[in-house]
Amino acid sequence: MQRFTLMFVVIATMGVACTQSEVPAPVTPDPRSHDFFSFANTDEFVNEHLQLDLRVDFEAEELQGSATLRLRRTASNATEVVLDTRELTIEDARFELPGGESVTATHRFGESQAILGTPLIIAVPDELQAAEELLLTIEYRTSPGATALQWLPPELTAGGEHPFLFSQSQAIHARSWVPLQDTPAVRITYDANIHTPPQLMAIMSANNDPDTERDGDYEFEMPQPIPPYLLALAVGNIYVAPIGDETGVYTEPELLEASAYEFADTQDMLDKAAAMFGPYQWGRYDLLILPPSFPYGGMENPRLSFITPSVLAGDRSLVSIIAHELAHSWSGNLVTNATWRDGWLNEGWTSYLEHRLMEVIYSEERAAELAVVDYRELLLDLEVVPLEQQALAPPFESGDPDDFQGIVPYHKGNLFLKYLEKSFGRDVFDEFIADYFGEFEFGTITSEVFLDYLDEKLLSAHPGIVSRSQAEHWLYQPGLPDTAPIPVSTSLDAAADFAWQWSQGEIDIADVPAADWSPQGMIHFINSLDADLSEEQLVELDTALGLSNTHNAEIGRTWFIQVAKRQFRPGYGKLDEYVNRYGRTRLVKPLYQALVENGVDATLAREMFERARGLYHPVTVTSVELILE
Ligand code: BES
Ligand code: ZN
Repeated sequence: MQRFTLMFVVIATMGVACTQSEVPAPVTPDPRSHDFFSFANTDEFVNEHLQLDLRVDFEAEELQGSATLRLRRTASNATEVVLDTRELTIEDARFELPGGESVTATHRFGESQAILGTPLIIAVPDELQAAEELLLTIEYRTSPGATALQWLPPELTAGGEHPFLFSQSQAIHARSWVPLQDTPAVRITYDANIHTPPQLMAIMSANNDPDTERDGDYEFEMPQPIPPYLLALAVGNIYVAPIGDETGVYTEPELLEASAYEFADTQDMLDKAAAMFGPYQWGRYDLLILPPSFPYGGMENPRLSFITPSVLAGDRSLVSIIAHELAHSWSGNLVTNATWRDGWLNEGWTSYLEHRLMEVIYSEERAAELAVVDYRELLLDLEVVPLEQQALAPPFESGDPDDFQGIVPYHKGNLFLKYLEKSFGRDVFDEFIADYFGEFEFGTITSEVFLDYLDEKLLSAHPGIVSRSQAEHWLYQPGLPDTAPIPVSTSLDAAADFAWQWSQGEIDIADVPAADWSPQGMIHFINSLDADLSEEQLVELDTALGLSNTHNAEIGRTWFIQVAKRQFRPGYGKLDEYVNRYGRTRLVKPLYQALVENGVDATLAREMFERARGLYHPVTVTSVELILE
């Protein structure tokens, strides 16, 4: 019975893939599949298609236009449609009648909540009380403070001449630029007309035509159904360069060449991923390299991953981010977490697939190095994360989903899947991977649906290897089970040895073979240094290895955390430069945090932040402010 109940969650949200006759008799959905982060009445109406017509107004910092939602009725007595919004101005709401005319609908806002925004409640007119399918058009404007949108003045772009706009809808920000059912439990197809100043180009998480005419009017179509957090738009002085047959890179002309070089392996990644995980279902795969304020390393907007420019290291050493965002084309975009509490299904699976890709494209050693660095981050995180948040599928009914996406779902999720791979053997597990994506493609699942599927296909099919209660331990218990596989890397072990020997004065800095190391080798070396090095030693280290001047953003992050922790004042000037170079939260937040926590530099951290905050995205500002308070 439980399995049937859970399958309802999957099928009910698949929309496109099932016809009326396949819909099972209504059963009570599993309460764990409830999305606490949406007001939408998805048990009464399900959005299936979205049509956008939006003008991009850089002066007003607003999108203006309309959203038309095709809704399928799933409850015969429902009289209102409830949508998610945040700071939208609604000008009109109307439904289309069967004859093609339209009728204005009464609409009102419900009570706002700080994190969730404001429900928009639209009355269904009497004429449509029996209609199975409804077409609802909303005329609206966004607010300049829309949490999903960053409007950049020309000075914050590479070219410095044109403004730039980008969206970041995950987790619950789509509602700040489109009125819709903003929950990953729903999947929509969409099409869009976007009107921009004529010299600028618009691109979306849709069918971007590399040869489109740059005239300020752009049309898009996204025929595959996606959860709303994957709606994405960018507008700016954007050009495209090809990488492979089905891959390319979009960015400002100033970054085009460097980007095409850095991400030259993208086509290979795509081909290898499809060979391992099942067909790539989305058409083209392109990258968009954003201005430095982009708050994440990457965002898996379908067909068009959004990527931070901080991965442009010049030596392709940070491209695991591309492997990660590409892998989301399976884990996350094809099979989606039903709620943000199931985030590990997106991020843990993706981290696992990322490492598999890095192994097959580069080497086992490179993947092992990434795994060791991640493992170290996880152990440090488990020391500070409250126990109830350490489960992969924790209780999560309030708060902000943005704050909830810590390290645990990524690296613990990855370890869980590595544990399964090791236990059942790679061949068996590889078959499971492809079957899993095939079974749930374009579906939305909870951790419990996953668990039942795992049980049926692996645990029970190969009895005596992993028990259901062992799997449940990973999902519901804090910390790591004793059976967790501990990643090892001989090259990182060697780097740690050098750190120890040099710290002890047993070898000279010139004997440290840093030039042979990957960034992960250097990161591990820095993290393995003795806690009580003298300032002279740190000066020697910094001078010999060029740490404060590094152009590798990850090495810089690791080094400047140490600079702040150790109160290494000769490094503070460069640290200040670093927090002004990129706005990616992962790069800057831990530096402010280390300053605050070193016991003497909280005021300095606040001053630095005040100077830099104009460069940052609202998401980054909020999360740094939390620390500085
Ligand atoms: N989907 C995430 C980014 C995200 C997470 C946006 C939570 C909003 C809320 C993306 O795939 C991601 O995981 N990015 C990582 C990159 C990485 C682990 C290689 C990042 O930004 O650091
Ligand atoms: Zn991710």
